[in-house]
Amino acid sequence: MDTSDEWIMSRTGIKERRIADEKTSTADMAVAAAGKALEMAETGHEDIDLLLLGTVTPDYRVPSAACCVQEVMGLPNAVAMDINAACTGFISGLSMAKACIESGDYKTVLVIGVEKLSSITNYKDRNTCVLFGDAAGAAVVAPSSNGSGLLSSFLRSDGSHRELLWIPTGGSRTPLTEGFEFDGSDKLFMAGSEVFKLAVREMANASLKAIEAAGLEPDDISLVIPHQANIRIIDAIVKRLGIDRSKLVLNIEKYGNTSAASVPLALDEVNRAGRIKPGDNVLMVAFGGGMIWGASVVRW
Ligand code: ACO
Repeated sequence: MDTSDEWIMSRTGIKERRIADEKTSTADMAVAAAGKALEMAETGHEDIDLLLLGTVTPDYRVPSAACCVQEVMGLPNAVAMDINAACTGFISGLSMAKACIESGDYKTVLVIGVEKLSSITNYKDRNTCVLFGDAAGAAVVAPSSNGSGLLSSFLRSDGSHRELLWIPTGGSRTPLTEGFEFDGSDKLFMAGSEVFKLAVREMANASLKAIEAAGLEPDDISLVIPHQANIRIIDAIVKRLGIDRSKLVLNIEKYGNTSAASVPLALDEVNRAGRIKPGDNVLMVAFGGGMIWGASVVRW
């Protein structure tokens, strides 16, 4: 392919990506991440009453990846469903989990962000195939009474930009019919530079809205966990917010863009490394195909 390490690194910040083997599905990766989240949260499988799974790469079109995960893990008291919000899947899941817990209808929610992007990547398209990787991350969300938790969320979408990042063929509008010649239209297409501009603008706006809704100022943010799509996008956002770059959590170099998995993956790494302290205000922000974007502020 006509590309180079120098181009990829300087334009995106990506050095390596992880690609799941053929036998490993989205649900398989989700089960592995969710098991570790339950263990860390010291939560029993029977305690989960809602499973929200963000992905655009479910194992099947029907049933949901969430139901596949539920079956393998054995979550007897849960209802499970997918959220198709691309890179914003995990942040959307967190926001929905908060609302569901506050409604009183649910108590313990398992939120997963997972993608096997390699299954929808066109490896003949240099505009996208150097960017995407496979990964999973998960969190357990439960009521809190000590002032910690999800302080705020801001989510928005705009379907008028849907053709900037989409899979044109294979849905009900243009089903794959007998004799379909594989031309790449059943794989992910992205108009990179247009998405880039929207991503910077909307992630910065969403961050400010979420910070304000939490009753905070940008200076009060201890850590920023952005969707890891492009180092230049991330740098432009913190510059707009006036937040010091040292507060950024970055792992794009190791994993590339893993869509819905990117934020929980970075959250887990930074948590296990002991970089988040109790009382820290953590900003998470993402943007993806839909277009759909959002931000959340969590007090650790
Ligand atoms: N190697 C070498 N050259 C390349 C490659 C590559 N891998 N990819 C593109 N180019 C070329 C292009 O063809 C173009 O050449 P031309 O000028 O001769 O036409 C040139 O490089 C510049 O292309 P641009 O698209 O302008 O490059 P840009 O600097 O915008 O970087 C990128 C491209 C990395 C895709 C960037 O636009 C980006 O990160 N966009 C946003 C990604 C994102 O946030 N996506 C949302 C989430 S993903 C999801 O929802 C699943």
